Amino acid sequence: MKKIILTGDRPTGRLHLGHYVGSLKMRTMLQDSGEFDEIYIMIADAQALTDNFDNPEKIRTNIVEVALDYLSVGIDPEKSDIFIQSQINALTELSFYYMNLVTMARLQRNPTVKSEIEMRGFANDIPVGFFTYPISQAADITAFKATAVPVGEDQEPMIEQAREIVRKFNNTYGEVLTEPEIILSDNKVCKRLPGTDGKAKMSKSLGNGIYLADDPETVKKKVMSMYTDPGHIRIEDPGKIEGNTVFTYLDAFSTKDDFDEFLPDYSCLDELKEHYKNGGLGDVKIKKFLNKVLERELEPIRKRRACYEKDIPGVYEILKKGTENAKKTADNTLKEVKEAMKINYFDDDALISSQALKYGG
Ligand code: TRP
Repeated sequence: MKKIILTGDRPTGRLHLGHYVGSLKMRTMLQDSGEFDEIYIMIADAQALTDNFDNPEKIRTNIVEVALDYLSVGIDPEKSDIFIQSQINALTELSFYYMNLVTMARLQRNPTVKSEIEMRGFANDIPVGFFTYPISQAADITAFKATAVPVGEDQEPMIEQAREIVRKFNNTYGEVLTEPEIILSDNKVCKRLPGTDGKAKMSKSLGNGIYLADDPETVKKKVMSMYTDPGHIRIEDPGKIEGNTVFTYLDAFSTKDDFDEFLPDYSCLDELKEHYKNGGLGDVKIKKFLNKVLERELEPIRKRRACYEKDIPGVYEILKKGTENAKKTADNTLKEVKEAMKINYFDDDALISSQALKYGG
């Protein structure tokens, strides 16, 4: 069986370090592993419109931002097709047919949908498009017969629901679709990076994110004002590691090489933590170290971004080509789906002749 990746993001803003740790880094690793036969990376504009339908300009302008972020982290258009969801009509068609296979009760039980409904205070006034986006996400995944979906852990309920839809479809109409597997980040320490203020999640509205496109000055400012241990006032004071954002980031990013190069007084992160806990290590010192660690990661990303920024029409060309390739694959699957569902009237000579026979012709 072919190994196929489908994944994507909503174009509602630039991507940040949370996306990077949670999934982007993993995607480039999978891409470069050479283990996959086909890789599709989708800019999910149609899904973004399910809760931004009244703000199409925001989605439209963020498409190129997300594309630049993809290219800058090393998604290589020679190896991966980057495409725009709304341009693949097979996806909306598939969604419509899958709707028959999903109940209201099941959608309401989807933990992601449930928490989003709570967060936004929706009741019966929930837009149907928003309520049913897990179905459209199943269409995204299955249209490419994806075997692997590398995403952040918050997407787990979506993949589970897609798997259910695949089983239901295959049981009802025959084996056409492929059950996908989720691939989570291998960063065991930290699958979800907190915001610079220590809050659970980076978000634009909280202004607590470090963006892949941030310049060095901005990153430094954000790092130097990061949340640490509020009880650690003087250098001599013992400090806490738990809930200390700087250490969470070091957990996620620092390597042995970083210590050798930037902080040779310590052999590893555990030693640094020990010193901090015992007192005598100031926040400024660890923040400066973190800044260097992050710069090591961000600099090549920024360089690649700058290259692509000089040729925005070229970026749209990459998207156009990726979309054309993606369309072929999705159209193929839709054809198989319609055949299995017996809605392929004009391609089915046997149907025409048997109906003709019924009337004696
Ligand atoms: N739900 C994803 C997000 O919010 C975007 C997305 C849409 C997606 N369709 C997908 C991710 C299919 C993986 C597979 O970022």
